[in-house]
Amino acid sequence: MIQAKNVWKSYGNNQILKGLSLDVPLHSTVVILGRSGAGKSVLLRQIMGLDVPDEGSIWIGDTCISTLQGKAKQRSLLDVGMLFQSSALFDSMTIGDNVAFHLKQNGELHEDRRVSTSEIKDRVAKALNQVGLDDYQDKLPSELSGGQKRRAALARLIIYHPKVLLFDEPTTGLDPITANNINTLIASTVRSLGATAIVVTHDLNSALEVGDYFALHHEGKIAYVDEKRAFLQKGDSLVRSYLEHAIVPPEFQEIIQEGIEEPIGQSDIKHVKEVVLR
Ligand SMILES: Nc1ncnc2c1ncn2[C@@H]1O[C@H](COP(=O)(O)OP(=O)(O)OP(=O)(O)O)[C@@H](O)[C@H]1O
Ligand SMILES: [Mg+2]
Repeated sequence: MIQAKNVWKSYGNNQILKGLSLDVPLHSTVVILGRSGAGKSVLLRQIMGLDVPDEGSIWIGDTCISTLQGKAKQRSLLDVGMLFQSSALFDSMTIGDNVAFHLKQNGELHEDRRVSTSEIKDRVAKALNQVGLDDYQDKLPSELSGGQKRRAALARLIIYHPKVLLFDEPTTGLDPITANNINTLIASTVRSLGATAIVVTHDLNSALEVGDYFALHHEGKIAYVDEKRAFLQKGDSLVRSYLEHAIVPPEFQEIIQEGIEEPIGQSDIKHVKEVVLR
């Protein structure tokens, strides 16, 4: 549903994406793991249409968005929502106005109609309730904590029911309990919207909670991708090396251990090769 096909991107002499390919199946969530500076945010920027690949293409469903321009591009990307690490709320608007923004601006995308003031009011209240911020409508972003801002940004996304959701480090800088709440919200939001999602994270607890597939971004490419348990259990050397340098939660250890007891068969090796070469 979301596809990056042989994407190359450089800034000056710095070649960041080097023929990267990734395929996110409809209604699934792929977690992208990888070292800092690997180019994960650069990849999301290409998918969000904020930047254009030097070579290769980005597809959302049947639309190649990387070759579109102007209004056609804007229209195709209306259904793509991103939660930025910084939350990116409008500082001078109240939380209620921030959450209402997309509906006021673009109406109901899926039915191609404007939305009445009373419907906007109801939907803002519902979205804020879903993220546990009932009493924050009239507050300014500066009056919220980091975790509350992240939740407000999530409400701003879920109110218009985007079909593609991109999350860049949604839990970075949050305490473990707040991070857990955000993860649960992300997982339930993606499910209830029937969305297709990419989550970039360094937080392996998050990865387990929200992901169906894990992908390792390494040296400008997706070096390895698989269903999450298989990703941890098949003992790929790059994955192993990444995990050696990461903070690995106990649930991860258990899944990895279970895998070690299972011998790797020829069919598994063939499958891994196919996935890597795709
Ligand atoms: N607009 C830009 N101009 C020049 N260089 C850039 C630009 N955007 C990103 N880069 C460079 O691309 C590289 C990858 O950056 P990116 O932000 O994608 O890393 P990342 O994998 O998201 O890292 P982190 O996990 O720390 O967020 C970095 O070396 C960065 O300096
Ligand atoms: Mg980043």
